[in-house]
Amino acid sequence: MQDDPRIRIAARTVDRRRPTLWYKDAIIYQTHVRAFFDSNNDGVGDFPGLTEKLDYIEDLGVSAIWLLPFFPSPLKDDGYDISDYCAVNPAYGTLDDFRTFVEAAHARGLRVLIELVVNHTSDQHPWFQRARRAPKGSPERDFYVWSETGHEYDEARIIFIDSEISNWTWDPIAKAYFWHRFYSHQPDLNFDNPLVIREVKNILNFWLDLGVDGFRLDAVPYLIEREGTDGENVPETHRVLKMIRAEVERRNPDCVLLAEANQMPKDTLPYFGNGDECHMAFHFPLMPRMFIAVAQEDSTPIIEVVESTMRLPENCQWAIFLRNHDELTLEMVTEDERDYMWQFYATHRRLRINLGIRRRLATLLDGDCRRIELLNSLLFSMPGTPVLYYGDEIGMGDNPFLGDRDVVRTPMQWSADSNAGFSKADTVALYLPPVMDPLFGYQAVNVEVQKKIRSSLLNWMRWVIRVRNAHQAFGRGDFRFLHPENRKVLAYLRCFGEETILCVANLSETMQAVQLDLSDLAGCIPIDLFGGCLMPVIEAAPYPLTLGGHAFYWLRLLSPEEARSRSDNPQEAMDRPELPAKDRIQGQRPSG
Ligand code: NOJ
Repeated sequence: MQDDPRIRIAARTVDRRRPTLWYKDAIIYQTHVRAFFDSNNDGVGDFPGLTEKLDYIEDLGVSAIWLLPFFPSPLKDDGYDISDYCAVNPAYGTLDDFRTFVEAAHARGLRVLIELVVNHTSDQHPWFQRARRAPKGSPERDFYVWSETGHEYDEARIIFIDSEISNWTWDPIAKAYFWHRFYSHQPDLNFDNPLVIREVKNILNFWLDLGVDGFRLDAVPYLIEREGTDGENVPETHRVLKMIRAEVERRNPDCVLLAEANQMPKDTLPYFGNGDECHMAFHFPLMPRMFIAVAQEDSTPIIEVVESTMRLPENCQWAIFLRNHDELTLEMVTEDERDYMWQFYATHRRLRINLGIRRRLATLLDGDCRRIELLNSLLFSMPGTPVLYYGDEIGMGDNPFLGDRDVVRTPMQWSADSNAGFSKADTVALYLPPVMDPLFGYQAVNVEVQKKIRSSLLNWMRWVIRVRNAHQAFGRGDFRFLHPENRKVLAYLRCFGEETILCVANLSETMQAVQLDLSDLAGCIPIDLFGGCLMPVIEAAPYPLTLGGHAFYWLRLLSPEEARSRSDNPQEAMDRPELPAKDRIQGQRPSG
């Protein structure tokens, strides 16, 4: 399959000289070093383990890897509490191991994105230890935000409502309150202090010099607080982001900034600036609405949110995701929508945390393959760059009995061997236990088995990713909704250059018929991107389609001339990817 010129992913080399907008064509795989593979059998995943598994990531067809924080940390917030920004947590390896990993990823054409977590540090960071002892008003003290009374900025909401009661915490050493938007062991840095900005630039340059291709900017809406505001998205925060962008561009114009700004649409868009802030931002407004649309069997929530977030600067792109390492956040939906989501997807209190749902994709969808494929078809075809959370490609489950969001951060399930093939350590030494329940546990759900079964979710994901990679329209194309009367069916066009792709998805679990107004494309012939089946020609009259429950189509619309010239060989030729011979079960029919 990899010799096929239409699969542009495998052999691409990284060109570091000029901005390529590579992120528009990318598919990002999000993973955690500690969760992926343990090479030294101490129970914790590490960089050598991740490097060993790069073949797997490459074979999936993704083009970039986003790593959760891997820096020294007390790990009270899974590494988002950093105590040293310019080193690797010894549990995960060394800086040399990181270097080797980046080189190996680049050699495969895979880019590497890491975290920039600078809204806050760990309270164990030397800057905080110094600040709490420094004289009031000194630059060292002012690395953080202090108060005598703990009453300032009282319009700011509390984000971790299950564990915090205030954004201020008393520090007996400093004899003052310090500001924190997250856990009370994560004091917020003070971005009004130029020394903090200088340190952030140093951190950026340190990792840029090691070859990273991008940064996910953690918690950016909260960088700066101002009295009389809710402390989110204040104009000065955007000024800081422009500075970060300028610094990154100076060093590597091809490096990408990806904003984590969990905000309403109108407040998320400004993170792109005029194309001079973040290149990408997670599409937080869209994510929950995809789940609502599937639950309600109604395309309206998706259409409304996408239509209100379509206009981005030319060099910017949404990052679309279904699930990630956090709870499925419901902070930015209405109360009715949140109640609906809780009732539908998280009936048990244990499945909820803060204002969200702590479940993986497969468990949210009761392991229903059709809905998993349907949502992935949206992930890979809506406007934006898809971000795939490790393990979701095999339908991994979660463990709701673990604390906080560890529920969805369990070891990657490689095989039915002990510890899911993740580590040969004693199970008691694992950083977290692998999922073991009969439906989603590693004996039922694992890479080794799914590689061998042609119709497995893993092989379906490899296929859909290859189809997406073969058509730039998905990453770069214009986007237009069709508005069929049947609202259970979501239909849209992706157009780039000569290419027009029609995507149709049935959000209902039963068969649906739909009539699409494609009169401006009359004469075109739709061809299925997966198997090459030619459909009836489009006429001026509404185009009728029927779809089975939760089915979807990706149809390229061939112009009449193109259709004629291809009539000898109608195959779009995006056949199911071949299973590597070594993974094939003896006697299994070859794919295609
Ligand atoms: C956002 C991260 O995604 C989350 O995991 C973390 O807890 C908060 N930032 C606070 O650092």
